[in-house]
Amino acid sequence: GSNHSGSPKLGTKRLPQALIVGVKKGGTRAVLEFIRVHPDVRALGTEPHFFDRNYGRGLDWYSQITLEKTPAILSLKRPSRIFNMSRDTKLIVVVRNPVTRAISDYTQTLSKKPDIPTFEGLSFRNRTLGLVDVSWNAIRIGMYALHLESWLRYFPLAQIHFVSGERLITDPAGEMGRVQDFLGIKRLITDKHFYFNKTKGFPCLKKTESSLLPRCLGKSKGRTHVQIDPEVIDQLREFYRPYNIKFYETVGQDFRWE
Ligand code: A3P
Repeated sequence: GSNHSGSPKLGTKRLPQALIVGVKKGGTRAVLEFIRVHPDVRALGTEPHFFDRNYGRGLDWYSQITLEKTPAILSLKRPSRIFNMSRDTKLIVVVRNPVTRAISDYTQTLSKKPDIPTFEGLSFRNRTLGLVDVSWNAIRIGMYALHLESWLRYFPLAQIHFVSGERLITDPAGEMGRVQDFLGIKRLITDKHFYFNKTKGFPCLKKTESSLLPRCLGKSKGRTHVQIDPEVIDQLREFYRPYNIKFYETVGQDFRWE
């Protein structure tokens, strides 16, 4: 078929124009669930519903911004692959205090494999010497300055948007406002879309595209974290500080984890 409007044919899968590339446990699910409420966004990995719900929107619907979530921040090959497939793809990274992120990551693993060693044990090569085990992914993912460097070899900083995982919880509308600006779509998702669910302890949506009922994220989002030795938390805070500061400098934004 011809392709007058520059939209892809039915059934063709094209690369998303925007990717949520991380970080794991930063709040990536929340960003995806919140942004997909926007009428100009189509999140992949879901049913397109073209012939029922969205038929009235016509083929213009295919000019919606497509968005996908793929936890790629750690992979060294991923930036070049994404770049080679589509260098215009906008990248979204949700970042969170690396210490909290590591504990969240560990808590998730523990929920699936209860027999793993303690967080305190896995964090260090030598705890008395304070040698952090940077080969442990739960630690490594939080060294944002390092990963950013490899992405910046392919993508200009202006093509990467950083969402504060902390502000995403305290001010979801503000944070989503900036995401919409970055994607070049109208600020249609506003504070009217959110309410704070006291039971969940997190902001939830008042309604979604498919339902008029309020919706919170699932049970695996917003788990109670394992208790960690406060001394270890301090040691990790120290460990991350130079990486955090370098990250703030590169991005030009202070995420206030110090
Ligand atoms: P915790 O489970 O440690 O609290 P991801 O989706 O990238 O795996 O991130 C999960 C984290 O998203 C959760 O980590 C939670 O803190 C955070 N989050 C942010 N906004 C949320 C929301 N509205 N509802 C639930 N979790 C949210």
